[in-house]
Amino acid sequence: MVKIAPSILSADFCRLGEDIQKVSSADWLHVDVMDGMFVPNISIGVPVVKSIRAHTDMFLDVHLMVEKPGRYIRAFADAGADLLSVHLEADMPPALHAALDEMETLGVKRGVVLRPITAAEAVIPYLERGLDLVLVMTVEPGFGGQSFMADQLPKLAAIRSYIEKYSPGCLLEVDGGVNAETAKLCRQAGADVLVAGSAVYGAKDIPAAIAALRGDARG
Ligand code: DX5
Ligand code: ZN
Repeated sequence: MVKIAPSILSADFCRLGEDIQKVSSADWLHVDVMDGMFVPNISIGVPVVKSIRAHTDMFLDVHLMVEKPGRYIRAFADAGADLLSVHLEADMPPALHAALDEMETLGVKRGVVLRPITAAEAVIPYLERGLDLVLVMTVEPGFGGQSFMADQLPKLAAIRSYIEKYSPGCLLEVDGGVNAETAKLCRQAGADVLVAGSAVYGAKDIPAAIAALRGDARG
């Protein structure tokens, strides 16, 4: 069954502990780190991940929207991230491969992320080396609450087939504008993990919203 990863970008940071508790029926917690350079927004960093780690056993899926993310792999691993994902556009390939090597050494799961502009084929050299997750952005990264880009669905399906060919077992995650309707399209295209910020935290009944994203009849 598909995993749901609520994005705490849509939480109330003054009540972060309570807001994490509210999504305990989900599978992972998605943490958006933004540096104001790779994306125009600034969000949260290492100390917040460390505090979250002390508060929950949920799997921490940390999405690094930062330039030259290799600089921060050790810090986020030490803070307690379970998985780190680095953007293919955030550095040159040798530096990204080195960052993925470091994740492996530190025992953190290895992810790469594609902006909407980046072609599906760009992921192949990384799948060939072995990856735990590919994240496909279905909005321009930087902000929650944007509309799902349906033109990314063929890319999702293409990456699903590359995963089967080059790195079976690697998970396919989707992030941006995922709600009960678009979740269905993502599941049909072969997604394993769905990130959702506003569709979860904007819902009156959060457990029902999480169930709806899974495609559970309750939603
Ligand atoms: C956007 C972030 C997303 C964001 C998703 O740059 O990577 O994780 O929180 O928010 P929604 O689900 O509202 O599009
Ligand atoms: Zn994200």
